[in-house]
Amino acid sequence: MYSQIAGTGSHLPERILTNHDLERMMDTTDEWIRERTGIERRRIAADHETTVDLAEPAARRAIEAAGVQPEDVDFIVFGTTTPDYIFPNCGALLQHRLGCRPGGAAFGVETACSGFLYALAIADKFVRAGESQCALVVGAETMSRITDWTDRSTAVLFADGAGAVVLRPSSEPGILSTHLHADGQYKDMLYCPGAVPRETGAHAGSRHKPVIRMTGNEVFKVAVTNLGKVVDEALQANNLDRSAIDWLVPHQANIRIIQATARKLELPMERVVVTVQDHGNTSTASVPLALDVGVRDGRIKRGDLLLLEAFGGGVTWGAALVRF
Ligand code: ACO
Repeated sequence: MYSQIAGTGSHLPERILTNHDLERMMDTTDEWIRERTGIERRRIAADHETTVDLAEPAARRAIEAAGVQPEDVDFIVFGTTTPDYIFPNCGALLQHRLGCRPGGAAFGVETACSGFLYALAIADKFVRAGESQCALVVGAETMSRITDWTDRSTAVLFADGAGAVVLRPSSEPGILSTHLHADGQYKDMLYCPGAVPRETGAHAGSRHKPVIRMTGNEVFKVAVTNLGKVVDEALQANNLDRSAIDWLVPHQANIRIIQATARKLELPMERVVVTVQDHGNTSTASVPLALDVGVRDGRIKRGDLLLLEAFGGGVTWGAALVRF
């Protein structure tokens, strides 16, 4: 028994914040941001929009694409670093909003930018074990709420958005393997202390809210090293050569990290789904967002072999090999 991705969906808030907009807000330039990160623009949630608000349309699209109904969903894993509340968890909130079957499991997963890989791995195990017939896996974030808009080294990177997939049991190979890792010794390299305030918007002062702190160049090195190892691990676990990969769907943190992983896999950039220029770093949402973009624009086709990977605060990282 395998679990298979039956449908994908995504949603972005309306407001676009370009690098030129940021030039007017802080001491930075479009050129610096594009050269160092590949980001050109990003989406920012409206003041009234929460993480679950962004997740709901993404989940509806994934459910529709899977050809199921909300009431068929019996299991929700919701990856986020920016939940609407400390509790109830966003999965339970989403279950009610969507009109899913009450009584099914719904819970949150928080491993920063690798959260979708963790959520996917958990849902995969439950579907394979026969404990879920229809699992909804969500990655959604309002990173703008925990961004320090006075810190140019992080404010230009993070953004808001949501992505989702529906997993269903299948006798045909779907998710082939998942690989999860963490190393807490690097906890101070990328972190956000405290709880998430709901009412502060993108322009609110940052003195009284928890905000992201990052030693960017250290994160860069540890990310490239560990992503390189985990993609090898995923291929070896399945006795597959890197030439078997049709599409790399990476976490969209930084174009240079993405290029380093593609080089490691000897994969031309034409086989990599890159959305960082338009989405920025949407943390847990970035992999399912990129996946949905690749599926809906027709690049990713049924039967393709996908390698998903992500790296985030903790530090945490992971990969999944998926026969789509
Ligand atoms: N605009 C202009 N200058 C800037 C900006 C900015 N937005 N931010 C920093 N600088 C300056 C710095 O002050 C520094 O100036 P100085 O030399 O006068 O001191 C200079 O640019 C270089 O700073 P570095 O931090 O060394 O720049 P680096 O080349 O490392 O690029 C970056 C920074 C883009 C953050 C890079 O380190 C990176 O991408 N790291 C990975 C970060 C990441 O991907 N994090 C997320 C992954 S995990 C997750 O998603 C949660």
